[in-house]
Amino acid sequence: MGIKNLLSSLLLAAPLVLAHPGKEEIHAHRALPLERKSLDHCEKHFSDPEFVTRTVEIHGREFARLRRELGLETEESPKLKPRDYISVSRIDHKSNKTVTKGMDLSNLFSDAGACMLMPAVDQGPLYVKGEQVRKDITEKEPGIKMTLAIQVVDYKTCKAVPNAYVDIWSSNSTGIYTGVQGYPGMGDPKDASILKLTALRGIQPTDDHGVAAFDGLLPGHYEGRATHIHAIVYLGATKQANNTITGGKAAHVGQLYFDQSLLTAVNKITPYVGNKQAVTLNTADFLFMQGANGDDPIVRYALVGKTLADGVFAWIRFGINQNANKPVSPAAFMGPSGGVMNPNGPVAQLQRGGFGGGGFGFGKRDAAQHEDEKARE
Ligand SMILES: *[C@@H]1O[C@H](CO)[C@@H](O)[C@H](O)[C@H]1NC(C)=O
Ligand SMILES: *[C@@H]1O[C@H](CO)[C@@H](O)[C@H](O)[C@H]1NC(C)=O
Ligand SMILES: *[C@@H]1O[C@H](CO)[C@@H](O)[C@H](O)[C@H]1NC(C)=O
Repeated sequence: MGIKNLLSSLLLAAPLVLAHPGKEEIHAHRALPLERKSLDHCEKHFSDPEFVTRTVEIHGREFARLRRELGLETEESPKLKPRDYISVSRIDHKSNKTVTKGMDLSNLFSDAGACMLMPAVDQGPLYVKGEQVRKDITEKEPGIKMTLAIQVVDYKTCKAVPNAYVDIWSSNSTGIYTGVQGYPGMGDPKDASILKLTALRGIQPTDDHGVAAFDGLLPGHYEGRATHIHAIVYLGATKQANNTITGGKAAHVGQLYFDQSLLTAVNKITPYVGNKQAVTLNTADFLFMQGANGDDPIVRYALVGKTLADGVFAWIRFGINQNANKPVSPAAFMGPSGGVMNPNGPVAQLQRGGFGGGGFGFGKRDAAQHEDEKARE
């Protein structure tokens, strides 16, 4: 077993579905979400005209930049009810809504299908803490442009959560992450210059309507994982003069995904087509299963122009528990002279040959977090 496959198995922490065709339901059952918080009770609230107006007005600005339309919805919007990952994987998240300047946007987030609870899952091994607050995270990375709008709502009150900071990161179009040195498959492990790279990482505050929006790329895939974007929602963080955030707590840690049909189309387009890493289907990714057993972690999307290459607008709603304080263990910290590997972070642990208990050293969560803070000083 190669190191990558070994990593994949450790990451997935469960046998791949592919190895057992027809046993999907068993895996569906095993991959129970870490937390099951439903937004069902919010449905009425979300369709309340006032909430809808407040929620969607915001997107006027975004959509005004994007001339749009596209697609045909093949299914009715899914009902809000507990889901399993197989049925979630079969939902077509492509929206055929036409988006024009000044339109009534109330259909977007009010769409029941867009009302999703983001599952809370592991932050993954490649988080860099201390990235910039910026809307455009593309830098010079080529790929299909994607504007991603994330609305944060409180899962109890269904109200939008303003002044939160949403921190996102993903791989580039050929499946490589910036900012972390020494993770297998992610660049030359001896090349420390990768620590200065920040592409496809960034932070945005939520506005009065709970929405944070980013301009970036549709990520690529890498071995062992379905295509995904990571997100952490920080509450109570403070923006610094150098455009970073400090303090606060991670109320939510999650990952979001894309329709398999979209990814299949994306993988035929340059530069995605040049990605030689094996594709992992959503339904073969344990973390997707975990996320999609109970909730729908797949973004809704619309094409911005006539073709996929013109770009994508994607949106998703996160339901968060504002009292939560999740452990976060960054692989590296970004500082004034570039990134510094976290000696207690998941990649450093991997290099020492130990994962600790519970995956990537989260066995001793409080201790790890404390050490992380110390490591930054
Ligand atoms: C979008 O899809 C729905 C459901 O399939 C259909 O009724 C509607 O006419 C479509 N709208 C556009 C603009 O194509
Ligand atoms: C993705 O990032 C890696 C590492 O920086 C780079 O070698 C590769 O060229 C990038 N992909 C594309 C399509 O530019
Ligand atoms: C930004 O400022 C904070 C607070 O002074 C500091 O901890 C952090 O290292 C700085 N980050 C960068 C990238 O300069």
